[in-house]
Amino acid sequence: MATIKLTINNQPRTLDIDPDMPLLWAIRDVVGLTGTKFGCGIAQCGACTVHLDGQPTRSCSIPVSAVAGQKITTIEGIAKNADHPVQKAWIQHQVPQCGYCQSGQIMSAVALLKQNPKPTDADIDTAMQGNICRCGTYQRIRAAIHTASAEMTATTPKMPKSNPKLGKR
Ligand code: FES
Ligand code: FES
Repeated sequence: MATIKLTINNQPRTLDIDPDMPLLWAIRDVVGLTGTKFGCGIAQCGACTVHLDGQPTRSCSIPVSAVAGQKITTIEGIAKNADHPVQKAWIQHQVPQCGYCQSGQIMSAVALLKQNPKPTDADIDTAMQGNICRCGTYQRIRAAIHTASAEMTATTPKMPKSNPKLGKR
């Protein structure tokens, strides 16, 4: 056992834990955040994707000791009320079928839009290729990412500057 300090969703955590435990087990079974899913366990499906210092990472295949001191974000941490533009777009497009892969899909999509706010279809396919969906929701994932991109890049109209010559109204 070892004492390992992590920051998960901006909360500092001190875990007394087997240092070889996969980060995914630590997140789900020790910390109790079960939004991140186990699929293959061998870094092939993307269901377990979390952000490690902002980068999408397969949490099933990295020992918890390797992430000591790093900032981890799980699906529970991307928005306070589950209302991140990506989550809202997922609902709008009714993306999930069985839902099992979807928290990993959303984490990869959020990371993509941070790096590339206006991705093309090809950019989306490249960024999301490590996330497998057995239900075949890829078309809706793509559409939802475009919708989230539009919301996140929309500029709010600027108020016209007041003209001092006009005086106060
Ligand atoms: S469970 Fe981690 S990539 Fe499949
Ligand atoms: S929604 Fe079922 S595996 Fe993706």
